[in-house]
Amino acid sequence: MSGKKISVTCEVNGEEKKLEVFPMERLLDVLRSECKLTGAKEGCGEGECGACSVLIDGQLVNSCLVPVIQVQGKNIRTIEGIANDDTLHPVQKAFLQCGGAQCGICTPGMIIAAVNLLENDPHPSREKVIEWLGGNLCRCTGYMKIVESILQAAEEKS
Ligand code: FES
Ligand code: FES
Repeated sequence: MSGKKISVTCEVNGEEKKLEVFPMERLLDVLRSECKLTGAKEGCGEGECGACSVLIDGQLVNSCLVPVIQVQGKNIRTIEGIANDDTLHPVQKAFLQCGGAQCGICTPGMIIAAVNLLENDPHPSREKVIEWLGGNLCRCTGYMKIVESILQAAEEKS
């Protein structure tokens, strides 16, 4: 990476971070290497698979496409910030119960996308869930168990 390092201050899972980084480093790499948060995965590295999904100020984004300079002053949530201490988020519990995860590569991104959906629409239809997951690819499950997991989580939250 060329150029000079800069200081970027942001909040990650509720904790303030001051990062010394190259401005165009990918947020995905900074989270994984500087912050030691390896939940977000690299699948395609091109914004196609959603394995690297995180929330920035409540917006679902592919962290492989975000230069870290863009998160100055922002609030980032990763899969590591979804559970409440030792208590899993209802979406995480439902993935376990319904078999929504197999190899697990897509799972952090799927769960982040699902949490974001339920925070915006607590009772989505099956069609809405399927549409919402359009940016998250899974090679293992055939999607149905993932969709069931999210619908079950919505049911339990109500
Ligand atoms: Fe970011 Fe695939 S690794 S979208
Ligand atoms: Fe393997 Fe989704 S569980 S890619």
